[in-house]
Amino acid sequence: MVELEINGVERRIDMPPDTPLLWAIRDGLHLAGTKFGCGMGLCGACTVHLDGQPIRSCITPLSTAAGHRITTIEGLGHGSDIATLHPAQQAWIEGSVAQCGYCQSGQIMSAAALLDSNPDPSDDDIDRALSGNLCRCGTYPRIRAAVRRAAELKRRGERVVQTWDPNVAVAPLGGLPA
Ligand code: FES
Ligand code: FES
Repeated sequence: MVELEINGVERRIDMPPDTPLLWAIRDGLHLAGTKFGCGMGLCGACTVHLDGQPIRSCITPLSTAAGHRITTIEGLGHGSDIATLHPAQQAWIEGSVAQCGYCQSGQIMSAAALLDSNPDPSDDDIDRALSGNLCRCGTYPRIRAAVRRAAELKRRGERVVQTWDPNVAVAPLGGLPA
């Protein structure tokens, strides 16, 4: 039995301590947003946060996560409305970043960690921080643009309220139209 905090909730997982965290998340807790890609720490599809830092859950034993704070894509924002999502998630939706989508939760988790440590990343910063997140669909230009947009949203305290008209795409927090 391993105890850890996932998305703000204390959970007990009845799996061997050497189970990869990815399988505890997906099979033990049925949180399927975190993806299995390579299983070798090479693609970034399985990225989650451990105490706010991005890690590859496919090569992280459950025992390593015990007693720590784990955040998955499901815990990054809250609610189902776009305005309650993390700025990165909002920017991803606004920019229609995903193609097949398989890599994108990992990309967003890496982007969110970057924005926590660097509120105004350059393109080089973005490329460096997300270099371990592979996208076989080649959405890298849209990913980079979305990270810049997410940084802008976060710095300004704004959020996406409409995605179909870029001229009215954001409103100040607390100032949403009815
Ligand atoms: S599945 Fe973990 S890095 Fe590829
Ligand atoms: S959107 Fe298909 S792998 Fe990235």
